[in-house]
Amino acid sequence: MKVIKYLTNLGYGSRREVTEMVKHRRVTRTDGSTVRGADAFAHSELLVDGKPLDVAPGTVIMLHKPVGYVCSTKDATRLIYELLPPRFTARSPVMAPVGRLDRDTSGLLLITDDGKINHRLTSPKAHMPKVYDVQLASDLRGDEGGIFASGTLMLDGEPTALRPAELEVLGARAARVTVTEGRYHQVRRMFAAVGNRVEGLHRRSIGRLLLGDLPQGAWREVNAHELVLLGVSTFGDGHTG
Ligand code: URA
Repeated sequence: MKVIKYLTNLGYGSRREVTEMVKHRRVTRTDGSTVRGADAFAHSELLVDGKPLDVAPGTVIMLHKPVGYVCSTKDATRLIYELLPPRFTARSPVMAPVGRLDRDTSGLLLITDDGKINHRLTSPKAHMPKVYDVQLASDLRGDEGGIFASGTLMLDGEPTALRPAELEVLGARAARVTVTEGRYHQVRRMFAAVGNRVEGLHRRSIGRLLLGDLPQGAWREVNAHELVLLGVSTFGDGHTG
């Protein structure tokens, strides 16, 4: 791919704007040489105004989503994109969340512009385990684990029962739940179905990938080893133009 299209797709400007940037030598290599429109290049060696490019096409990032942010490109309130580089919504394809977390849920959110990876992680057939820490309004009764594990729990307005889910009791009003589906407000509705109310919800892992100690509101690239943990390794794909 030519550098102008490449940078346009990464959200650096319109085709015309990026052409001007190249003409005015704002696009360089790490060795200081100027890049011209038809030159071959590698993502990692390009600089715009002396700064490295945003993440390469096909990258997966993890965000520690704070409570109060919405997984959408359009909303009146705070969007997860406010926590990310401003060019992310201007990219083609766009950097899109892998599934969603509610506004009031915090924790691990994956974001990628790779539609195949996104589909592999969210496909209902993937049965990808997602682990949530839950704070409850009322004490656990003791029968919730059995009900969640039964594979017969029906949520209001849904035609099929939930797949079995695991419950680990962490305290009178605290639990860790593992689900392998991504139904709308699933964890909140599961506890509503057993007469309780979720007051705090935090996703700590997806598959074998843990959020770890990434601070709230921060993001970082998911590395090659972690892609293997997620079962979506693209090892061998190059990011060159
Ligand atoms: N279940 C919910 O209820 N909300 C989320 O954000 C994720 C799972």
